[in-house]
Amino acid sequence: MPIHLRAEPGDYAPNVLCPGDPVRAQYIAETFFDPGFKQVNEVRGMLGFTGTFEGKPLSVQTTGMGAPSAGIVFDELAQLGAKRLVRVGTCGGLADDMSMGDTVIALTAAADDHAPRQLSQMDGIVPTATFSLVEEAARLTREGSMGKVHIGPIVTSGLFYEPNWEKFNTWKALGHLAVEMEAAMMYVVGAMKGMEALALMTVSDMIGEGDGDTVRISDEDMKRGVDQMMEIGCR
Ligand code: HPA
Repeated sequence: MPIHLRAEPGDYAPNVLCPGDPVRAQYIAETFFDPGFKQVNEVRGMLGFTGTFEGKPLSVQTTGMGAPSAGIVFDELAQLGAKRLVRVGTCGGLADDMSMGDTVIALTAAADDHAPRQLSQMDGIVPTATFSLVEEAARLTREGSMGKVHIGPIVTSGLFYEPNWEKFNTWKALGHLAVEMEAAMMYVVGAMKGMEALALMTVSDMIGEGDGDTVRISDEDMKRGVDQMMEIGCR
């Protein structure tokens, strides 16, 4: 039994949805899972649930915020037999054609954070999604009646309160769509442990030109964003 996910192999489904927020994990289980799901973790409030979605086994596990916390959870999910991780998180939007509540699919997640590089032991690593999952997500996006979905590179930052705010303009100029704090770690652990991985994020704030320009999402847009991610993440 791992230290932070107090569960046994078999308690989690092979496919695990990974939100940062425990309240969202509970919302996902209660709203999307078939009746009869069970709670499989509560250590440190990192709620985890296993059940089924349209009859197929599915788990949801909280990661907490930032790569060090999320990295513990991803590693322990691998120890417990997980085969596919799908992050259902939030991000700060950088791209001009983006609005609050849009969905971002991360092809790659540049590690502007020491932890994923420390784990991989390669400074030049390019943490990358599993292509078949990107392809499937893109297909569902085209076929469904979803709001706007953006697919491309993102940045995983080690800081939310970044003192060098200018940096975001440079990432934007380099074609990066959004900033968040866990995807690079998920892609590195996935690569090292043989798990498929895909990061989906709802744009929860738009990063402005200067420090303090950030505007936060409304509860209504957030719910719409999570529901939209679930149309992709549950499949
Ligand atoms: N920065 C970093 N991580 C985030 C943000 C952000 O603006 N929004 C949601 N996660």
